[in-house]
Amino acid sequence: MLDVPETPAYVYDLAEVRSSVARLTAALPTPTGLYYSLKANPHPAVLETLRAAGVAPEVCSRGELDAALVAGWSAAEVLYTGPGKRDDDVLHALTSGVREFCVDSPHGLDQLSTLASSVDASVRTLLRVNDDVPIGGQGLAMTGVASQFGADTGWIVSAPEDFGDRPGVHVAGLHLYMGTNVDSVAALLAQFTRSLETVALVSKALAPYVGDLEVIDLGGGFAAPFARPGPPADLTGLRAGLVDLLDGHLPGWRSREPFVTFESGRHLVGTAGTLVVRVLDVKRSHGREVVVLESGINHLGGMSGLRRLPPINPTFTVQGTTPTIVTGPLCTPLDTWSKTAPLPPLSVGDVVTIPNVGAYGLYASLIAFLGHPCPVEVAIDGDQPPHVSRLTLTRRTP
Ligand SMILES: Cc1ncc(COP(=O)(O)O)c(C=O)c1O
Repeated sequence: MLDVPETPAYVYDLAEVRSSVARLTAALPTPTGLYYSLKANPHPAVLETLRAAGVAPEVCSRGELDAALVAGWSAAEVLYTGPGKRDDDVLHALTSGVREFCVDSPHGLDQLSTLASSVDASVRTLLRVNDDVPIGGQGLAMTGVASQFGADTGWIVSAPEDFGDRPGVHVAGLHLYMGTNVDSVAALLAQFTRSLETVALVSKALAPYVGDLEVIDLGGGFAAPFARPGPPADLTGLRAGLVDLLDGHLPGWRSREPFVTFESGRHLVGTAGTLVVRVLDVKRSHGREVVVLESGINHLGGMSGLRRLPPINPTFTVQGTTPTIVTGPLCTPLDTWSKTAPLPPLSVGDVVTIPNVGAYGLYASLIAFLGHPCPVEVAIDGDQPPHVSRLTLTRRTP
């Protein structure tokens, strides 16, 4: 069993984070950039490890920006995204030194122009594009459907003047994030092919208003197992396939004209996290085995009902043959992780672990619901002393 001071506990293995960065970097062409999407896991030790490994931060809130700065990234390295931004938060980013944003509409450009001008700043922005048709093979499609993300390709091409530079704002590139958890290299390459065709169309239309594009952020969607054992997605062939695609579509990419970047959350941290929980009760109900654990959707899988995550049905590291209903301690029947987990006979106090929950684990859960404390978080790194902390919610007067 993992050595934890108490349960429930999330354990993050920082060596595995470093290996994941090395694995994904090796699967991407050089020179390209790689952003880490803090939404997957903003734990400070995880962030410091990613920063030291050379990944840049992609943030979409004031909290994520502050976490990135505390972890040691400079504001100049930050890409600030998100489909709706409060003026206060944009001003906070600007005064912190952020100079690269992603916008999703003409209003986003106007807002940035007004706020950047108010503090005498000049910023670069990537325009997020929502393609006209969806791409297959994604765990969760984020393009080609009606959504808050980006401006539709058809809209940009028919009214490019609405998306041009503004005072203080240069539209320096495009951002295409098609979806998450893409299930194969073939599907990834199909997605990137489609994205590059869209880049050609959109950059031609925008050229009179913004000039040559300097950055193309192709997003990602690099998969990783969630709450079940197994290695992260096999990316063999991705690098070669991407080199061919970039050579064909963006002939200047090798000299960074434009500079191509990618983004990843789950592939970089998913396999680094394990949740360790204890059994609180065991009983039979209507002829079925029921196991009640210390953690439920307040600590893992809170967003699965939103399709942000696959339905939670974790694979426990203990395996048996009895189909068991596994719940958390919350006072709602929704707090059920599995109705059929194959488990051995368990007793009160036994410990079970759930692998591969380093991404969208605690930070994608309903931590305020019903007031149970958060699990302790233990970041380990070989022989180094572990980093032990606990996230708390505090109330203060505004
Ligand atoms: C714009 C953007 N970038 C990156 C990510 C990270 O996705 P993943 O963790 O699947 O790599 C997301 C996820 O929703 C996203 O919306």
